[in-house]
Amino acid sequence: MSVGSKIAVAAALPLVVEDLALAFGGNKVLQGIALQLRPGEITGLIGPNGAGKTSFFNCLTGLYAPQQGRMRLGDIRLDGIAPTGRAALGFSRSFQHVALCPELSVVENVMIGLDRQSAAGWLDAFLPLARGRQERARNRELALAALARLGIAQFADEAPANLPPGVLRLAEIARAIAGEPRVLLLDEPAAGLNSVETRDLSTALMRLRSPQLVMVVVEHDMDLIMEVCDTIHVLNVGRLLASGNPAQIRANREVVRVYLGDDDE
Ligand SMILES: Nc1ncnc2c1ncn2[C@@H]1O[C@H](COP(=O)(O)OP(=O)(O)OP(=O)(O)O)[C@@H](O)[C@H]1O
Ligand SMILES: [Mg+2]
Repeated sequence: MSVGSKIAVAAALPLVVEDLALAFGGNKVLQGIALQLRPGEITGLIGPNGAGKTSFFNCLTGLYAPQQGRMRLGDIRLDGIAPTGRAALGFSRSFQHVALCPELSVVENVMIGLDRQSAAGWLDAFLPLARGRQERARNRELALAALARLGIAQFADEAPANLPPGVLRLAEIARAIAGEPRVLLLDEPAAGLNSVETRDLSTALMRLRSPQLVMVVVEHDMDLIMEVCDTIHVLNVGRLLASGNPAQIRANREVVRVYLGDDDE
């Protein structure tokens, strides 16, 4: 049995990080990071600019190779597994700055999120062959289902250029969830959204919470973080400063001093 099929039948698995350290030259980006990311929860990861939040995501997905530490999904050791292997295990993410492809409709953009699962591959799915047509029809159904989960199925055939930022952001998240990930990492999903769009995003994120899913949100919008998260970890210059539920994080004097600011004091 392959690792992928083994994991498909497994119960909810925590993502465990032990003693993680990452440096670029003399720049110690992450040091001594130890935490558990639990399935069934929404976990927030917050901290000042440059704290190492995106770098931490890059370590989890295998894009960066930490110099020290261990990561495992349940009992599966992740060290040495390349990004494609981790994607096959169910890791999925949205990026801080990546947008949708303007030449494709919303649903076609979401279908890109399924290419790694396709037996035929994404390009084949666009070729006029029977296998490609079937694959494309199936992927379109899955992509439409992902859009529906985010409440934006009505925009499936629109071009991205015709849609407001809030819908585009939800479409990016739909792309990340279309393959039914086991670990979903969202990097600043509320960046650039207005307050109404941010509320819609909060609602959508809370609807995505599910017993098997490890969901981690990096975000500077503290109202959103405090509303949607069960557990929050605070990073400061590469170190874990605090972990707790929203009330505990709000009440932590050190967190208020380095990050939340005087307004919350
Ligand atoms: N590929 C890289 N090469 C060199 N340095 C890097 C690289 N990636 C990240 N860093 C450094 O790691 C540190 C943390 O950056 P990172 O992007 O992880 O912060 P962040 O917490 O996501 O910040 P922001 O809130 O601004 O997105 C920074 O000093 C950054 O310059
Ligand atoms: Mg970042």
